[in-house]
Amino acid sequence: MTEAVLLVGGKGTRLQPLTINTPKPMVPAAGVPFLAHQLARAKAAGVDHVVLATSYLAEVFEPYFGDGSAHGLRLTYVHEEEPLGTGGAIRHAARALDAGASDPVLVFNGDILTGLDIRALLLRHERAQADVTLHLTRVADPRAFGLVPTDADGRVLAFTEKPRHPHEIVTDQINAGAYVFRREVIDAIPAGRPVSVERETFPGLLAAEALLHGVVDSSYWLDLGRPASFVQASADLVRGIVHSPAVPGEPGEYLVLPGARVDAGARLGGGTVVGAGAHIAAGAEVEGSVVLDGARVEAGARVRASMVGAGARVGPRTVLDGAVIGDRSEIGADNELCEGARVWCGTAIPDAAIRFSAV
Ligand code: GTP
Repeated sequence: MTEAVLLVGGKGTRLQPLTINTPKPMVPAAGVPFLAHQLARAKAAGVDHVVLATSYLAEVFEPYFGDGSAHGLRLTYVHEEEPLGTGGAIRHAARALDAGASDPVLVFNGDILTGLDIRALLLRHERAQADVTLHLTRVADPRAFGLVPTDADGRVLAFTEKPRHPHEIVTDQINAGAYVFRREVIDAIPAGRPVSVERETFPGLLAAEALLHGVVDSSYWLDLGRPASFVQASADLVRGIVHSPAVPGEPGEYLVLPGARVDAGARLGGGTVVGAGAHIAAGAEVEGSVVLDGARVEAGARVRASMVGAGARVGPRTVLDGAVIGDRSEIGADNELCEGARVWCGTAIPDAAIRFSAV
């Protein structure tokens, strides 16, 4: 049996307003809650039991995913009354694991989309006889991440979480948010208080000379913490740039869910997804965007790399580029909202009220 803990309890503040009423893993990407992609990928790698470590808006997961049987998995929910941080959540979730002391347990951050070969990570963990094996990826600018230099054998040498000084940037390898723990290592994390696995557990294990093994895997990897990357991930899933068995359709330039209406003369592309009950009017153009259930994009509107919330309206000739429109918001005609603009849920913007451009 292969078991995994999925961390899905974060507040997702960087993704607001999308995460005001919906926890980040339940925000739809390519037509289904993002978590469905992670579960499908885990199942495809042979995982048969997943423990969901919930905290923020915990009550919405179980009604959707149930006992997991519809997804071919056994799902267990372990709820934290108070958020325990990444390490505390792993420790807390361990009560639901069946794994023996020396068995491997996979742990995934709930907001990473990756083409990582999960089976290969498990194999490398076994071969290295490691206490913890970490998926590492290389990024051009590692400053916003946890830096993890390794030696020639893959042994982890240090952890530097979000370095602030140039001399701390000793590698472009970062913690990619997927781990294999030997079960007893999880049980040694302090219980009942918040613990950060990145800032406390891993540095503590290193100091205690535990064997932490890093596996650099350069397949697709994206941290969905920010709106632009969330929209990018959805588009990449729709286009099949990264594969997920949970995408409800064949790869293509757009995905229109059952019950959506796209008028003749509307243009869709770049991995756009149009949710159930949404309407794209003739003459509208939607490129590389997520249009959630029941939203309307009206005639002549141009939407690019944006997220249009459930039940929101984008008025005629309005331009969105890199914007997030909260659920049920009404954007009147002839507005322009660009790079990084976020409209909170239920906001009404009159016609021709905003011209915002980053340049
Ligand atoms: P931001 O608030 O935007 O930073 O997002 P976040 O709350 O998701 O935090 P972060 O991206 O650092 O979290 C990494 C992963 O750990 C995500 O999958 C979170 O859902 C999860 N996570 C973070 N804190 C907790 C916690 O206290 N409990 C649980 N169960 N999961 C957590």
